[in-house]
Amino acid sequence: MSTTSNNMIKVCKTSELPHGQSKAVQANGKEIVVFNIKGKFFAIDNLCLHAGAPLTDGSVDEEKGQVICGWHAWGYDLSTGKCVTHPKQDVFTGSYKTEIKGDEVFVMV
Ligand code: FES
Repeated sequence: MSTTSNNMIKVCKTSELPHGQSKAVQANGKEIVVFNIKGKFFAIDNLCLHAGAPLTDGSVDEEKGQVICGWHAWGYDLSTGKCVTHPKQDVFTGSYKTEIKGDEVFVMV
């Protein structure tokens, strides 16, 4: 892991994260989970806001672009971090922009 300007942090190579998989990474002191959905990369906090489960253990709904927490099934939008199953509309886990440069995945933290 290394840092470049604008807090773009290299977290892995694309080959380390094939389609349909997720990977927990450390970036700028945060634990983040990066998902590869059909070559598009998403990054959110690796933390369910309900009871703290790691979202890297969740299951991904590729159609909806969501991860479903493995403990009690709260769902999160992978693009925004919004909790889509919570009755309140303003419950978000952290989400981060991703960028691919060559064969490396960067997260803006
Ligand atoms: S800890 Fe994630 S839904 Fe309960």
